[in-house]
Amino acid sequence: MSIPLEDTFSDVISKSQRGQKYTDRALFLRAAIGPYEDTLRALKAGEFHHTALLKLGPALKLDAKRLVALAKNEYAPKPVEVDGLAQFNTPWSDMRVNAYLVWDAASKTAAAFDTGADAKPVLDFLKSKGLTLTHIFITHTHPDHVAALDALKAAGSPQVFSNAREPLAGTTTFEIGSAKWNLGALTIEPRLTRGHSEGGTTYVVTGLSRTLAIVGDAVFAGSIGGPNVSYADCLDGIRTQILSLPDNTVICPGHGPLTTVGEEKAHNPFFP
Ligand SMILES: [Fe+2]
Repeated sequence: MSIPLEDTFSDVISKSQRGQKYTDRALFLRAAIGPYEDTLRALKAGEFHHTALLKLGPALKLDAKRLVALAKNEYAPKPVEVDGLAQFNTPWSDMRVNAYLVWDAASKTAAAFDTGADAKPVLDFLKSKGLTLTHIFITHTHPDHVAALDALKAAGSPQVFSNAREPLAGTTTFEIGSAKWNLGALTIEPRLTRGHSEGGTTYVVTGLSRTLAIVGDAVFAGSIGGPNVSYADCLDGIRTQILSLPDNTVICPGHGPLTTVGEEKAHNPFFP
């Protein structure tokens, strides 16, 4: 299954502009693109304008060449497969959302990360592999990520965990720094990647052939989640908690395709 990038270059511009609270006029003055209203409108509508993108990049502290590469559809992360990891991409309104299963082959125990919009493909997968769901971890509480929680819980008696900074009713809360879980031979540790939401959490999973970072809506392939709470914290959290992991770490975002730390360090316009 090939999942397209979540965001276009226009989305990247809009998120960055919104995060830094620039009006169109302020952005025009910084970037000196003209005629600014027409050009900005065209860019935001998805029209490719090479010179304007090269000026807008530095004005927004984005990597201009990477922005151009996105606009030319030149970036797609290489497909990644890891034994013990499955991605579920389900429809939610006019978009799609990801949930993940991670499992330990020896004990046949599994953990879900978010629920997606529909539990059925997850439940079918568990059954087909003979896995027992013992844990559900919530990256953040936005409705698309927890929509299928009740259906998923009914599958057995998994414990459900959410960050105390963004608690989800009916779940066990944890504090970053003191929480850590084992799933058979695997280890799961939470990190704070707030900014898209108040207590946005990345779960780092070790023990499979590759380290995983299950990031919710912190970072996407080629973009970031909407900077709803703090743009500075979004960027800082991604930099210090995710992109500091080894390059071959697999990033599992809440929307769009799997990617890696190495790919995002090389291609994501938010991290020049
Ligand atoms: Fe979200």
